[in-house]
Amino acid sequence: MTVLDQFRVDGDVALVTGGASGIGEAYAEAMAEGGADVAIADIDASGLADTADRLRAETDAEILPIEADVTEEADAERMVERTVDELGGLDVCFANAGISGLGNKITNVSLSDWREINGVNHDGVFLTTREAGSVMEEQGHGRIVVTASMLSFVAEPAIGIGPYVASKGGAKQLTKQLAAELAPDVRVNAVCPGYVRTSIGHGLLTETAAESPAVEDLHDEIEGRTPLGRFAEPSELKGIALYLASEASSYCTGSTFVVDGGWTAI
Ligand SMILES: NC(=O)c1ccc[n+]([C@@H]2O[C@H](COP(=O)([O-])OP(=O)(O)OC[C@H]3O[C@@H](n4cnc5c(N)ncnc54)[C@H](O)[C@@H]3O)[C@@H](O)[C@H]2O)c1
Repeated sequence: MTVLDQFRVDGDVALVTGGASGIGEAYAEAMAEGGADVAIADIDASGLADTADRLRAETDAEILPIEADVTEEADAERMVERTVDELGGLDVCFANAGISGLGNKITNVSLSDWREINGVNHDGVFLTTREAGSVMEEQGHGRIVVTASMLSFVAEPAIGIGPYVASKGGAKQLTKQLAAELAPDVRVNAVCPGYVRTSIGHGLLTETAAESPAVEDLHDEIEGRTPLGRFAEPSELKGIALYLASEASSYCTGSTFVVDGGWTAI
């Protein structure tokens, strides 16, 4: 097998939560281009339909859009069941859906905001990986990829996202625990992105948002603090996604893969 063959995921089935947009959409695209059939689960029905149409038009993959809220136990169970029933299995699961919340120091965060953010980023990742992990454990193989963050390692005082930082620290540790419990048949790793141009945080990271002077200053500050001097595009996460989903990463489990333009290097 050549090294490029090790990256193929032909015949595999992947499930991507938060797959309607941003990083999840890029993961789904990477899986479809690599040869897998892909279920994309999201709360955004119209985004799901658009992404499914685009991936069907641009790849040969079978694409299954599933409207699901990862914070709801019944939805998490249903999205995994539908993937297995309608696409014929589950080889790879990306627990990726997430929200950021913004604007408050921890001392000003309400309990409801804390619960909302941790509901998606923590409970949602738990439910998704529990359901996918059970199927994979029973079938004796599988790969799980959690989207954590560079903020799983460092704090970010500039934009008031304490609950997010805490949730991403938890996602990193859950990845390690799952890896330890599900080895050797199922491998579990985390991708830890830096700032990526997506619509997370009510669009704060988009180029459109930077048209407002306050946000432009924030973007300048972020770019200035990043050794590579810019935000990432979602497509720049496709390579690590395919690596972790495929045989190319066969000796990796319980690891965190930071893709942050150098942010945590300094
Ligand atoms: N953009 C960044 O700078 C960045 C950096 C590090 C980590 N991340 C992480 O990447 C992941 C993807 O975020 P993104 O930046 O692509 O943002 P995004 O807003 O473009 O995508 C997130 C997707 O998750 C979906 N979603 C939200 N709540 C959901 C729920 N309860 N159930 C199902 N789907 C839900 C949204 O509808 C959306 O399609 C998140 O976990 C985020 O924390 C993002």
